[in-house]
Amino acid sequence: MKNKAIGIFDSGIGGTSIWQEIALALPNEDTIYLADSKYAPYGNRSRDEIISLSIKNTKKLIELDCKIIVVACNTATTNAIKILREQFDIPFIGIEPAIKPAAINSKTQKIGILATKGTLSSELFAKTSGLYTDATEVIEVVGTGLVDLIEKDKIDTPEMVDLLTSYTQPMVEKNIDYLVLGCSHYPYLIPILKKILPDNIVIIDSGEAVARQTKTVLQRNKVLNTNLNKGTYTFFTNSSVNTLTKILKKSNQLIKSQFLDF
Ligand code: DGL
Repeated sequence: MKNKAIGIFDSGIGGTSIWQEIALALPNEDTIYLADSKYAPYGNRSRDEIISLSIKNTKKLIELDCKIIVVACNTATTNAIKILREQFDIPFIGIEPAIKPAAINSKTQKIGILATKGTLSSELFAKTSGLYTDATEVIEVVGTGLVDLIEKDKIDTPEMVDLLTSYTQPMVEKNIDYLVLGCSHYPYLIPILKKILPDNIVIIDSGEAVARQTKTVLQRNKVLNTNLNKGTYTFFTNSSVNTLTKILKKSNQLIKSQFLDF
């Protein structure tokens, strides 16, 4: 069991930002990543569609013999993780927007969150954000179109700069001091956000927390890989192999991805 891989899935290539943190925190673990880009974005889909896509991806990772599944997608986590945990006998790690550290540390008591419609309208998000935001105003903005552009390999484009400027402007006007990235695709937008946002705004995402939690759960279940070799990394996409390989290059990883019909 210890030598089995950590399975990771996302609606597309964005969850590779979470994979990076996992590979950093758990260098001896093998990982298998599924980019469900054929069906991206999930953000505007119905809850039922998000659940059935998440079940499809889970079945594939179980078929590929994984020991744990990381749902590296806020939209899938907030809409489907409860059902996944009910239906499958494998540990799941989810990702949720990092509202808690932002709300606790905000001095202006105003924080911004950029996420998909599916995440912001989910019950789980309402519940989690309700726990920490009594004294803090949360300015929620749906990042319509951002995932599409990332999936089309159009990160460094004027179109992206325009969209991000229009989404963050209302938050800046409200004097936020924290911007929470509530979608695993968005860490790839940090270099652009840093250029357009005032310096005092701290940008946070949940990648490190997910990697920490993955390690904790592997330890708790006694399935941490004790092998001293570096882990092997397998990346599958049901859409463009080039786009997935290219985003991996952005994080200095020269890993080739493979096509898999799932
Ligand atoms: N990476 C997904 C998330 O974290 C993107 C959702 C989408 O495909 O719209 O929410």
